[in-house]
Amino acid sequence: MEWGMKNRLAQLIQKDGRALFLPIDHGYFQGPTTRLEEPGKTVAPLMPYADAIMLTRGVLRSCIDPTNTKPIILRVSGGVSVIGEDLSNEGIITSVKEAIRLNASAVSLSIFVGHKYERESLLNLARLVNECEEYGIPVMAVTAVGKELEKREARYLALSSRIAAELGARIVKTYYCKEGFEKVVRGCPVPVVIAGGPKVDSVVEVFEWVYDALQKGAIGVNLGRNIWQHDHPVAMIRALRALIHENYTPKEAYAEFERIRQTG
Ligand code: R5P
Repeated sequence: MEWGMKNRLAQLIQKDGRALFLPIDHGYFQGPTTRLEEPGKTVAPLMPYADAIMLTRGVLRSCIDPTNTKPIILRVSGGVSVIGEDLSNEGIITSVKEAIRLNASAVSLSIFVGHKYERESLLNLARLVNECEEYGIPVMAVTAVGKELEKREARYLALSSRIAAELGARIVKTYYCKEGFEKVVRGCPVPVVIAGGPKVDSVVEVFEWVYDALQKGAIGVNLGRNIWQHDHPVAMIRALRALIHENYTPKEAYAEFERIRQTG
């Protein structure tokens, strides 16, 4: 692996082999998502605790101070909306030249295995990898499920994650599943991070997913709504950070969450 690729990956994946990515890219197909109406304000207090932030070029340019030195994972696929016909019909919306100009540490793109536009999304990934490898930029593939949240089970996630890695993704973002997650990780030869999906009511549930995913070989998270839609997002991200980088158990992470929630 060349120096540039290694260096960018080292910005994202920390020395302990773990990673906490904070995605705020949801507006690219959902518009002003709850608690992300003003992305700059949402992310500012959370940024110190994230290893990287994931977002589109539009939000990066208009909402993030360019003196920020947190690594950027630039979402470069899109072109669909939540009220449109088919969420899987994505194209590439940002050039690699632009990613370089914006000093991105990685780019990310969704694939839609088993959806109507499966082939297009996979070819988009392959083309993006071809171009990004020339410049040493890692591609993080997002195994998207669109509106079909029931697809978040091991067999599907393993299939989708493996295909992403086979096509050249350097990191795969997938979902956690309670049954068989170890098979998802074992079948994917590149590092795996998990997304959270829609916000759930119990913070302990989130800590348990993340803990279990780490035990089963994930390197960390790319977790958004369960952090920034929470009433106490800073307590949430700091507890997750302890879980990921300091090997806290879910119980210890919850105690940390409560401590920060009460004392600030
Ligand atoms: C989807 O909109 C994006 O790819 C998100 O970055 C991803 O789903 C992770 O965010 P969350 O934890 O909110 O699902």
